[in-house]
Amino acid sequence: MTDTLYDPRWVREFYDAYGMQEWERFDRHPMMRIAFAIHQHYLRQYLQPGQRILEIGAGAGKFTQVLAELGVRITVADISPGQLALNRQQAAAHGFAHAVEAWVECDACDLRSCFANESFDAVVAYGGLLSYVFDQAGAALSEMQRVVRSGGPIFLEVMSLWGGVHRYLMPVLTLAPDVNRQIIANGDLDERLGIQLNHHCRMYRAGAWRQLLQEHGLAIEVMTASNALCTNWEEHLRAIPENSAAWQHLLEMEVEACREPGCLDLGTHIIAVCRKAKDGRS
Ligand SMILES: C[S@@+](CC[C@H](N)C(=O)[O-])C[C@H]1O[C@@H](n2cnc3c(N)ncnc32)[C@H](O)[C@@H]1O
Repeated sequence: MTDTLYDPRWVREFYDAYGMQEWERFDRHPMMRIAFAIHQHYLRQYLQPGQRILEIGAGAGKFTQVLAELGVRITVADISPGQLALNRQQAAAHGFAHAVEAWVECDACDLRSCFANESFDAVVAYGGLLSYVFDQAGAALSEMQRVVRSGGPIFLEVMSLWGGVHRYLMPVLTLAPDVNRQIIANGDLDERLGIQLNHHCRMYRAGAWRQLLQEHGLAIEVMTASNALCTNWEEHLRAIPENSAAWQHLLEMEVEACREPGCLDLGTHIIAVCRKAKDGRS
């Protein structure tokens, strides 16, 4: 690949070194528990037991475990051999290996050598994979549409530009304004900024995310922030037990609020549940 911001080697090395952090992230604080619940809400709504699912960018397997609980059969795929090894370990340790048909090392931007056309009932790409492939997101979307059956749901997610600023406002304000203006202008965190970065990715405004999906022929069923009301209240939320009526009510409000146009840019990530159009690309 030439003339692209996407660097598969950087992604592989970053995630090989990342260890269990992706598995642990949803337990870090209440905002993440809520984000986890919102992701699950849509998997439960759209998937049926027995379906064959491609989970691409699966990482250590937090959603592989959820998918196994839903009774689907999962092909776990990731560009990072380190994350695939952790996924296998977690599957054995937590008893969900029986639901996994295969663990496959592959790049979402080119799945041809791994998977035939229309070989899955659904594709799950939760967790920002599409933010790591920068300008190659279209190639990844085309590949996901190619491998899913006509009308099958595709669960997608990117990192949110304004949601990121909202969540990390104080660190953002330590950046030089000119550098931050560049980030805000195109959403890209990459070496062109000329600053020390421990993360490379493309963040999206909700409008640009919607446009990308539509340009690639996807029918959007749901667009939702991963969190909105709770984004910066974690210290207070720690006082609310997760089995309480207040917690349940918060979840109920979050599911609704996160889909409001005025809230789409308020969370750390933006999720989309799409359908491959009936005449989808292959
Ligand atoms: C943020 S983690 C998400 C892990 C998991 N889906 C979750 O939400 O907890 C992103 C994962 O996507 C993988 N990934 C990034 N770019 C990829 C690509 N082009 N093809 C396949 N996997 C990729 C990374 O190796 C990493 O495991």
